[in-house]
Amino acid sequence: MNRKVINILVTGGAGFIGSAFIRYVLDKVPNFTGKCVNYDLLTYAGNLENLKSVEDDPRYVFVQGNICDEKKVEQICHEYKIDTIIHFAAESHVDRSILDPEAFLKTNVMGTFHILEVVKRNPKIHFHHVSTDEVYGCLGEEGLFTEETAYQPNSPYSASKAASDHLVRAYSKTYHLSTCISNCSNNYGPFQFPEKLIPLMILNCLKRKSLPVYGEGKNVRDWLFVDDHAECLWMLLEKGVSGETYNIGGEQEVRNIDMIHLIIANVAKILNIESSELLSLITYVKDRPGHDWRYAIDCSKVKQLGWTPSPSLQKRLIETIEWYINNPEWVNHVESGVYRQWIETNYQKR
Ligand SMILES: NC(=O)c1ccc[n+]([C@@H]2O[C@H](COP(=O)([O-])OP(=O)(O)OC[C@H]3O[C@@H](n4cnc5c(N)ncnc54)[C@H](O)[C@@H]3O)[C@@H](O)[C@H]2O)c1
Repeated sequence: MNRKVINILVTGGAGFIGSAFIRYVLDKVPNFTGKCVNYDLLTYAGNLENLKSVEDDPRYVFVQGNICDEKKVEQICHEYKIDTIIHFAAESHVDRSILDPEAFLKTNVMGTFHILEVVKRNPKIHFHHVSTDEVYGCLGEEGLFTEETAYQPNSPYSASKAASDHLVRAYSKTYHLSTCISNCSNNYGPFQFPEKLIPLMILNCLKRKSLPVYGEGKNVRDWLFVDDHAECLWMLLEKGVSGETYNIGGEQEVRNIDMIHLIIANVAKILNIESSELLSLITYVKDRPGHDWRYAIDCSKVKQLGWTPSPSLQKRLIETIEWYINNPEWVNHVESGVYRQWIETNYQKR
């Protein structure tokens, strides 16, 4: 039986995946008439320009706030009669977690704890926790992560996400809350902040800047298109069994260096230039500490519920590259920091 989703609180909805999820709900879910409340602190990773296309939709509400502010989260749940929380808000960049782990513990662990406390006091709310496959650690050449794989996080980021997953499970068991966890692989697509691999490489190709590759670039990642992820998350809100964990993957394993070659080939084709011009930009840099060798996901459990990822990485990658080429204003605002001023002005208007 499908769970009825009426009014949703989306934490971290101004980020890359959270904003794709909000656009999906408002544009693609048939007959969604409830409120979709985006609760986001607007850290450097939060960008309301990701939601320009829906900002005037009467079903959409934005509230700026910290997930650690339990009182405010609870007040919003009451004000908007929230029945479902989907929790994206997090510090999400592994490299930053190596430099400043504390921020990751505060937001990812304590922030999740505070939301769970709200759900504990309001147990009719269903809570979906968005997590990562990085909690499982690292694979060798063979094998896939399943929902039964033991947790072995290797970076402060993945350790903080693992801790938050354990809290969700413990609250569900101890206080009989309705919860689901999903652990997904690397996402890509439009509106991704250019500190992450794919947008960084695309934009550096466009600007003929160096393309930094960690180590020999042989680390393997599974790539999930962000809109596919949003679709899967909606399905899980409706059909996910409380207390269960679901792995979401793109079934597209690629070595980092091969992904960079793929980006170069496609950018060169779109711009009608020689790819050798871009290949010469590749620069090998010292590997980062704790860099996991390979991630790959067995997502048969979500596929059994009726979802499948896009079959063509190439097609989605071209769409993504074209999006970055066709949205120079978004890119300029992010790179120059103007997106933060835009946020402030927009806020005063409301
Ligand atoms: N991007 C990926 O490839 C990927 C892969 C696996 C899992 N995930 C998980 O998915 C979720 C979303 O990832 P993303 O890439 O969209 O992240 P993101 O960094 O793009 O966005 C995070 C959002 O959370 C907000 N935020 C941060 N701290 C907050 C706080 N204290 N209170 C309220 N809001 C706060 C930020 O302003 C931002 O809008 C994260 O939980 C991440 O761990 C991401």
